[in-house]
Amino acid sequence: MNEPALHHVESPETLVRTEPDALADEISRRRTFGIISHPDAGKTTLTERLLLLGGAIRLAGDIRARKSSRYATSDWMEIEKQRGISVTSSVMRFTHGPYELNLLDTPGHQDFSEDTYRVLTAVDSALMVIDSVKGVESQTKKLMEVCRLRDTPILTFINKLDREGREPLELLSDIEDTLRIEAVPLMWPIGHGSRFRGTYHLLRREVRLAENPDEPVSVSGADDPLLDRLLGGQADELRADIELLEGAGGAFDLAAYREGRQTPVLFGVALDGFGVPELLDTFCEIAPGPLPRQTTTRVVSPYEPAFTGVVFKVQANMDPAHRDRIAFLRICSGRFTRGMRVLHQRSGKEMRLANATIFMAQDRAGVEEAFAGDIIGLHNHGLFKIGDTFTEKEPLQYTGIPSFAPEYFRRARLDNALRAKHLEKGLRQLSEEGAIQLYRPLLTNDYVLGAVGPLQFDVIANRLGAEYNVDVRLEPLPYETARWVETDDPEALAGFVRAQGPNLARDIYGDYLFMAENDFWLNKAVEKWPAVRFYSAREHS
Ligand code: G4P
Repeated sequence: MNEPALHHVESPETLVRTEPDALADEISRRRTFGIISHPDAGKTTLTERLLLLGGAIRLAGDIRARKSSRYATSDWMEIEKQRGISVTSSVMRFTHGPYELNLLDTPGHQDFSEDTYRVLTAVDSALMVIDSVKGVESQTKKLMEVCRLRDTPILTFINKLDREGREPLELLSDIEDTLRIEAVPLMWPIGHGSRFRGTYHLLRREVRLAENPDEPVSVSGADDPLLDRLLGGQADELRADIELLEGAGGAFDLAAYREGRQTPVLFGVALDGFGVPELLDTFCEIAPGPLPRQTTTRVVSPYEPAFTGVVFKVQANMDPAHRDRIAFLRICSGRFTRGMRVLHQRSGKEMRLANATIFMAQDRAGVEEAFAGDIIGLHNHGLFKIGDTFTEKEPLQYTGIPSFAPEYFRRARLDNALRAKHLEKGLRQLSEEGAIQLYRPLLTNDYVLGAVGPLQFDVIANRLGAEYNVDVRLEPLPYETARWVETDDPEALAGFVRAQGPNLARDIYGDYLFMAENDFWLNKAVEKWPAVRFYSAREHS
């Protein structure tokens, strides 16, 4: 095998240079990413390990403690109590050598919602955590689909090698078959479960033993007798695996990774941190820095000196006495300085962003500026919406922050019909904020709510009560999936509406949503109506 094929960081030299070196240097050091995984694969444990390495927390157990308190809170006041925590853990900043990392939280478990998907539209790459016992699971599959919308590069960490998991080759095939992406191991586990000894780095030809993880041992290759001394009887098993892997082909290819066609795979044990430093080194080395982003008129390079940014998430302050919101804005180009004057494109208003929260790495109090790739939190009173673009002067509108088809549906019912107007107002505002999706069925006067995770309904019912003084009952509807539908053929549309009327609704933009009881019925409709296009994500201008 050739020498290590890992390449060094993307050099800003290859991009158009329009500003001083200092700015380009700041930007190219940033790595903005999210973690995709199924609940219990070890995302929280890994996050904690990364933050420990990055010096952002001092004690293991910190984040896990927060998680368990945040966990099953469907109670309004409980959510309110957790408010401060969820805002600060939405963006976790840490450093690693010269790199500045922004880890954006992708809430799982009961917190799973459209926000989880939308966060992935604001990152430049993702880390995928797979449980070696369970393989690829459903939520990972869904999150992967979202990554695919923008061909987001994905680095894979197969976790829990200390457990009696599935065979590594089987796990790689699972990733390839289930997620349709080429999986290329950069290292190979030496046993697992009770026979777990460590890992062998296939490119660097290094053995890292579980009992001494900080001092990897270099070998000349698979036939080095040193392997026998280090691993005893397991050396030959490793040799057989390496031979198999070499025969299977598929070398690491930076371009294929960056284009989202190949995922490099690392292995480890998040629980005791084994393999995590290597994961972080590799991630910083190969993951892209801030990437160019598309607007309706042109592509904007992050290295352009003029500040631009887009809102990808809005979080309400749960305290009814303070109806403020925090809009999370991804800086797409240039530099942000506290108090700078910017143009809010949707309203056309110029405003001073004085009380922005700049998320920062530990021990760097007093940071007054942020750069492309960073996230800032903007306090407002409901003025800022998902997709809003901010610039210094140029009129621009960023694209790529869509809505995602709901999987849970409720019908809103009022006991007191006199509150109907308030209900409508509340639902409209909450849907504009991105907390829920609001639909009107074609054939009835109901309000149908759609969400990606069921906890959203509790939050909405609570907020309708607290903020709009509306008592609402939310009745389940028998749908599990939905697609926006569109066609250029008026006859096909008329036919579709006739046949599927009871399962059709319009969203607040007037677009049609087709709701199905399950994938079987969805697929039937797709087959039956070839002139109709079905979309699982929708961008509204
Ligand atoms: P999540 O955020 O993806 O939901 O997963 P989380 O990190 O909370 O981990 C889920 C469970 O898996 C936890 O156990 C955690 O300790 C365990 N875990 C994480 N990484 C590893 C690993 O590398 N090896 C092993 N053996 N276990 C791992 P739990 O029993 O739910 O919680 P706790 O009792 O450990 O706190």
